[in-house]
Amino acid sequence: MVTLNINGKPRKFDLTGDVPLLWALRDAAHLTGTKFGCGMGLCGACTVHLDGEPVRSCQLPISAAAGKHITTIEGLQATEIGRVTQKAWLDSEVVQCGYCQSGQIMSAAALLAKTPHPTDSEIDAAMAGNICRCGTYPRIRAAIKQANS
Ligand code: FES
Repeated sequence: MVTLNINGKPRKFDLTGDVPLLWALRDAAHLTGTKFGCGMGLCGACTVHLDGEPVRSCQLPISAAAGKHITTIEGLQATEIGRVTQKAWLDSEVVQCGYCQSGQIMSAAALLAKTPHPTDSEIDAAMAGNICRCGTYPRIRAAIKQANS
């Protein structure tokens, strides 16, 4: 049994500690906003926050997440930076197919929480691990730029 703090609430899971966090979130907690893309830490679709830092939940065993604050896309609205980031996404009409976007938003929110007005190179560095097959990168950059303007 592993207890995880997800979006401010403790939840118990009858899983072994080596199960990836993504599986616990999607299959056990039914928080399906976090997506499975590659399962290899390469695409960023599964990005969540662990104590405010963006992590690839497909690569993180739940034993490493126990005792930390996990925030998923479902919990991001509870934070000011989450609301600001999601509003910027809507205002910039970023989304095309949408599959990668929860991961994109989680990475962007983590960047904006630390760097309210990032430069292009800071955006590139923070977002490099999030892949978008629709190529929404220009709109992602525009949304991040206008998020705190
Ligand atoms: Fe985790 Fe692609 S599904 S990085």
